[in-house]
Amino acid sequence: MRILGIETSCDETSVAVVDGMRDALVNLVYSQVDHTRFGGIVPEIASRQQLKKLPPLYIQALHDASLKLSDMDGIAVTMGPGLVGSLLVGVNFAKALSYSSGLPLLGINHLEGHIFSNYVASPRLEPPFIALIVSGGHTVLLHVRNYLDYKILGQTRDDAAGEAYDKVSKLLGLGYPGGKVIDDLSKKGNPNFHKFPRAFLKDKSYEFSFSGLKTAVVLYVKEKGPEFVEENLPDICASFQEAVVDVLVSKVMLAAYNLKISKIVLAGGVAANSRLREKLIFKSEKKKIEVHYPPPILCTDNAAMIASAGHRRFEKGQKSDFSLNAYPYLPLSGSN
Ligand code: KG4
Ligand code: ZN
Repeated sequence: MRILGIETSCDETSVAVVDGMRDALVNLVYSQVDHTRFGGIVPEIASRQQLKKLPPLYIQALHDASLKLSDMDGIAVTMGPGLVGSLLVGVNFAKALSYSSGLPLLGINHLEGHIFSNYVASPRLEPPFIALIVSGGHTVLLHVRNYLDYKILGQTRDDAAGEAYDKVSKLLGLGYPGGKVIDDLSKKGNPNFHKFPRAFLKDKSYEFSFSGLKTAVVLYVKEKGPEFVEENLPDICASFQEAVVDVLVSKVMLAAYNLKISKIVLAGGVAANSRLREKLIFKSEKKKIEVHYPPPILCTDNAAMIASAGHRRFEKGQKSDFSLNAYPYLPLSGSN
């Protein structure tokens, strides 16, 4: 079964075709750059860009795959969570394709898509596993019991991990988005230069909180002054990153230990973080736990993950009708 996937939930426009659940024939991703000068995503600009980029990207994707719309068996589109204007562009485009071609349509939860990015990346990966979705908008720890059966163990109470990276980057004058810049600079820095707070919350909690860490960096930078910050930038970045990574790694390991699961899966933009991968692999090896994470193109928002999740749901006989809408707040609900 070949599925066309469409993803427009935030500031990436993506169109993909999968053949089977795990084989991405094409996965084109356009990342908007217009937000850089504003230091964060401007929703109005994001949706206008989606409108401009989606039609040519769709044509390009079919061209690259040497396929026609009539060669598809279904159309899967992200229906939420995300920015409502951006989501609406993808949902309406998918509805129009479905109406004109007669192909079945299916709305997919963006977070479910992030989990499925790992099935595309790792051909032999099977549930059950512990999944950590860490991106600019989400920090969610899940017990994936089966392909479409999840239990949310915990999530962030305030900022997402990627959001903390982006805010700290802005504060340090490193631009937006900040994850990769901080990751790269940290490689030259000392992670023990300054001990920033780690919010483990109450004992054995699977919940996260990153806004206190962000405030601690703000206060530290204010106290030390611009000259000190400039001179010690890699050390400050590495120390901030270590605080984020310590919390993420310890909670994932705790979940794997408590639920007796020997497989951990990372997803979302922050899953590209080199220190997170390094530390998680180091801790896991000792406990004989497998760690999976996708390559960067499948970490970031992409349509292959949406098409892959769609494939699984189409196989189960599911489909949406034309009342399908965009849902900015859409909880991930585990079911079969
Ligand atoms: O999944 P994604 O592309 O979009 C959202 O759904 O948010 O994630 C983007 C986020 C941004 O906050 C960005 O700063 C962060 O992922 N990010 C990273 C790295 N690469 C991207 N964070 C830490 N280390 C990285 N290497
Ligand atoms: Zn995402």
